[in-house]
Amino acid sequence: MRCPEILIWKPEIVLHEGAEAIVTAGSWLGKRAVLKYRRRRRYRHPDLDRRLTRQRMAVEARVLSKLSAAGYPSPSLMLMEPNKSTMLLSRIEGKTLYDVLKTENSSRNILHSLGVLIRRLHELEISHGDLTTHNVMVSEGDLYLIDFGLSRLSPELEHFGLDLQVLRECLGSSHTKIHDAIEIVCEGYIDSESQNSDSARAIDVIERFHKIIGRVRYHG
Ligand SMILES: Nc1ncnc2c1ncn2[C@@H]1O[C@H](COP(=O)(O)OP(=O)(O)OP(=O)(O)O)[C@@H](O)[C@H]1O
Ligand SMILES: [Mg+2]
Repeated sequence: MRCPEILIWKPEIVLHEGAEAIVTAGSWLGKRAVLKYRRRRRYRHPDLDRRLTRQRMAVEARVLSKLSAAGYPSPSLMLMEPNKSTMLLSRIEGKTLYDVLKTENSSRNILHSLGVLIRRLHELEISHGDLTTHNVMVSEGDLYLIDFGLSRLSPELEHFGLDLQVLRECLGSSHTKIHDAIEIVCEGYIDSESQNSDSARAIDVIERFHKIIGRVRYHG
């Protein structure tokens, strides 16, 4: 039987061609989507490369389904083909936070909202693992987190603190015009009061983050 045309993935434009992934925008089943293909890393042994790719896809799929169930702003997983190293995700129409911070002058509200969003993620017992401004998208003023291949599903203070440290380094190296950016994110993290929020826990995370900064300074 001929496959109806609507079932076919229709690529439109390559959005990103990075070291790890090629991301193409298009449509699938008539819905706007992106195809994320994890490319082979030739410097790695093929077995190790295959294992790491599968691991990252599996963790990304698990996290995305948990986030979807919680109504968290992130792409939804539409289809996954581990043998082809591809995932189809719903498309977030917008720009990366990286681009937004480069072009917009008033970024305080966005950074505060980012703190709120990170706290929500941590309250779901998920650490992101690669929290840079390329992995946050802004769509009509709303923030979404993407790229969960290095995430962990465990409530470890150290990993939560490290998320903030990775973001601090990114803001300090790529967005130097906003002096107190990470402080604004931390304010959002602390201020946020969601339904199941635990403010003592949020303070513990910020304290751990400060300890990590101290360690980084001490060891260089
Ligand atoms: N669901 C999505 N909707 C819209 N754009 C997306 C989506 N997912 C990814 N992108 C775009 O593709 C870029 C790369 O995606 P992602 O962060 O998932 O890959 P990556 O693992 O970081 O790739 P690499 O390590 O090769 O840079 C994002 O920064 C964003 O611009
Ligand atoms: Mg990324």
